[in-house]
Amino acid sequence: MKKHLFLVTLLGALVGCGQGSGSNDAGGDKAAAGDIKKIDLVATQDGAPLKIDAKLFDTPAAKEFISTGKNPYIGDEEAIKAGKKVFNLYSCVACHGGHAEGAVAPGLTGPEFKYAKNATNKGMFETIWHGTNGGMGAKGLGLMQPDNPAEGLKVDEVLKVIAFVRSNGAINGNE
Ligand code: HEC
Repeated sequence: MKKHLFLVTLLGALVGCGQGSGSNDAGGDKAAAGDIKKIDLVATQDGAPLKIDAKLFDTPAAKEFISTGKNPYIGDEEAIKAGKKVFNLYSCVACHGGHAEGAVAPGLTGPEFKYAKNATNKGMFETIWHGTNGGMGAKGLGLMQPDNPAEGLKVDEVLKVIAFVRSNGAINGNE
């Protein structure tokens, strides 16, 4: 009798365990596919879907962006300052000018863009992350240097850079 009870308990525990980890996995997938990812990012080059690990959307701002397309850093003075640093550190400044007004590469202040979608957060994110065919290299984490996954801008940094770019320009809303 005692032994039987033990077996039942053990079985219950095992089944419970299996269910537990199983549903955790499924929950994780659902969170990645449903709860977090709501806008579909595409490459500026060819419109192909951009595969970015859901884990890289790891700050409240990054999560908000991938859910809504809004960039919480637009108009945020601290974030704009941080974005300016990244703009300098990653040489955007060398090609696009200190205030994104344009130098050897086009200005980024708008309202006209070579790629019209860069008037939006989503479009500019896609361009910075994955580059263009016309001389703008991918700056996203892991894409800048194929042999160094640690090289490149984090999602959160791209959003700050966009906030800096917008702070100089004709387009400073949050579309
Ligand atoms: C080596 C020079 C170079 C660097 C560094 C560079 N860019 Fe560019 N960028 C370009 C060129 C050239 C283009 C035009 C690309 C084209 O016509 O396809 C461009 C285009 C863009 C565009 C699209 C402009 C439009 O009118 O549609 C954005 C946005 C942009 N760059 C942002 C950045 C940011 C942010 C950084 C830094 C993280 C950066 N770039 C670094 C050369 C550069």
